[in-house]
Amino acid sequence: MRGKRLHTLIHATFVVLCLCGEVVSADHGYRLWLKYERVSDKHRLQEYRRAIGAVVVPGKSATLVLVRNELRRALKGLLGEDLSVTAKGGSSNALIAVTPSSFVSAGVPESPSLLRSLGPEGYAIKTAVIKGKRAILLVANQPVGLYYATFHFLRLLQTGHSIAHLDVVSRPRIQLRVLNHWDNLDGTVERGYAGKSLWEWRQLPDSISPRYFDYARANASVGINGAVLNNVNANPAILRIAYLRKVAALAAVLRTYGIRTYLSINFSSPVSQRFEQGGNRKGGIGDLETSDPLDPRVRLWWKKKAKEIYSLIPDFGGFLVKASSEGMPGPQEYGRTHADGANMLAEALEPYHGVVMWRAFVYDAAIDPDRVKRSYKEFVPLDGKFRDNVFVQAKNGPLDFQPREPVQPLFGAMPKTPLMLELQITQEYLGHSTHLVYLAPMWKEYFAFDTFAKGPGSTLASVVDGTLQQYSMTGIAGVANTGNDRNWCGHLFAQANWYAFGRLAWDHDLGAAEIAEEWIRMTFGTDSSLVRTVRSMMMGSWSACVHYMTPLGLHHIMQADLHYGPGPQYDSGRQDWRSTYYHRADSIGLGFDRTTKGSGAVSQYFAPLSDLFNDPKSCPEKYLLWFHHVPWGYRLRSGKTLWVELCERYFAGAAYVDTMAGQWASLRHRLDQEIFESVKRKLEHQRIDSGIWRDTCSTYFQRFSRLPIARGQ
Ligand code: GCU
Repeated sequence: MRGKRLHTLIHATFVVLCLCGEVVSADHGYRLWLKYERVSDKHRLQEYRRAIGAVVVPGKSATLVLVRNELRRALKGLLGEDLSVTAKGGSSNALIAVTPSSFVSAGVPESPSLLRSLGPEGYAIKTAVIKGKRAILLVANQPVGLYYATFHFLRLLQTGHSIAHLDVVSRPRIQLRVLNHWDNLDGTVERGYAGKSLWEWRQLPDSISPRYFDYARANASVGINGAVLNNVNANPAILRIAYLRKVAALAAVLRTYGIRTYLSINFSSPVSQRFEQGGNRKGGIGDLETSDPLDPRVRLWWKKKAKEIYSLIPDFGGFLVKASSEGMPGPQEYGRTHADGANMLAEALEPYHGVVMWRAFVYDAAIDPDRVKRSYKEFVPLDGKFRDNVFVQAKNGPLDFQPREPVQPLFGAMPKTPLMLELQITQEYLGHSTHLVYLAPMWKEYFAFDTFAKGPGSTLASVVDGTLQQYSMTGIAGVANTGNDRNWCGHLFAQANWYAFGRLAWDHDLGAAEIAEEWIRMTFGTDSSLVRTVRSMMMGSWSACVHYMTPLGLHHIMQADLHYGPGPQYDSGRQDWRSTYYHRADSIGLGFDRTTKGSGAVSQYFAPLSDLFNDPKSCPEKYLLWFHHVPWGYRLRSGKTLWVELCERYFAGAAYVDTMAGQWASLRHRLDQEIFESVKRKLEHQRIDSGIWRDTCSTYFQRFSRLPIARGQ
């Protein structure tokens, strides 16, 4: 009964939303990159109007309804034409969106080899002649593929591309493209800077916010096909039946948009509160005194829980697990390994084709004095010991989402275990949602990083997309930057990071500038000088942030806990949380010696990287202070000393923010005033902050170098 009511409720909300689809108003960023404003270039507008005279979308599935609505809404906005969408072909200049089941009725010829190449989510967009009439064909095996094709096609119109000769074939390079929400059940978001959680747990499952549909649509528009709804520091209550019903309601919304729902679980869930020992995370929701993964009662508990979940959410994706990390419970409390823990959960999910995403973010001090070595040391010996439906999910770097890190050496070193890459979209260490930092150039640097696992060309991208080591399943996760702020991400430009994550998860070969340009055109319009200015602001913004926060391989120099401003001198008393632990400044020089004479972290990389990193002369300077303790007077490739180069980078980084502020100011009359002002205020804040970073760090290090501060040009 309850399920039926829920279905009716979701359906009703869905219908209302579809009807309201065309209302366009000042949105303060709410509409994201899906604005569908009228095409401003007259020639293009004519071309599009001529090419699209009718829209044909046969079929009845809920996702096909989305395709129809999206096309109607978009074409009305972009072309100013209210085209009705029909199920039957026949007219000239039709835009025809079909899956194989409607090929015959739409008069579309079969093309088995093309369909095979598309897989379950891929699509083709082609200019065609059907029964003597010109048409644009969108083809996919599944409705969700057509939905992706729809967004691709609309992106061409939004960005002003010609659609005269279309021949696009696209399929995702990575299978699971998932957002990780670090949302708590009390509505707060860990490392969230865009308001409260999107999930209205109190109101669910009885009230379905229209925002869920908009969220799902935005994700689908960039190909994101999964969402972990809750924080990795998981509250066990998420697995109580009352919460699972709420989760089921969200899953019912997301499903139509091709998005599977996942949950973070707490490893102690089977434990009764009565057996809680120390720390509020210990007690779970079960009735056992243990969560030992080898205990048959614990295994049975998880099997029953899995059954319950799948009875409510038949396409549930699986569990994300942070275990034996930062106070979270895990198998090691019982003397078991990460593999024992992951396999127990995998076994419970296996009958339903669910997966476990077991996080490698662990840094137990007992493993090694150097924090960046710990995850590798714990996980590499477990390669080959995980069940087939387990991913090990590792952050891009070995430390923690720093402005810049070398790649986590686990990648490439676990050929028998599918490694899932975890990126952070929310800017925990990169100025929260106050700083304009476009992250695609950073992610591209990681993707291109050559691990040398199987000789040259063993890029991180090839590990993650499974082509290097023939993984049986592939995945990528992004820690979301969404919240209930009107503009979703706090900073308007942070939307570009959500957008770029989805686009790169689909195809890591896309260029950062190309993605920026798409986003700008869709967000601000296609005026070429505006596009040029904004693109130039974005493209240098990450490198600037690295310069004013952590130049030359410095890391974790932020205020503890908040991770926002500089805290080079911070000393909380905990060995590896002291910022000085990471930068090691002294009268001789600066940087963490991780060579074979130091912590030895270089040896976790494959040759020749290990040798390259081991020698300051060959070590890329972007990682210099990550791997080396370097004398203040050491000459860098520029011929300048470490001290001078360091200072100049701080100054250059902050100066870039001044430049961005000036560039933005030049756009005042070309932008919506509300949006202009909101970004302007953020840039002013970023200017102040970058100056604080520059001055705090340079004067702090001066205490060790005893040299005059070099300002550079
Ligand atoms: C960082 C972050 C935490 C988070 C953790 C994780 O340490 O500061 O808030 O819980 O990463 O990824 O688990």
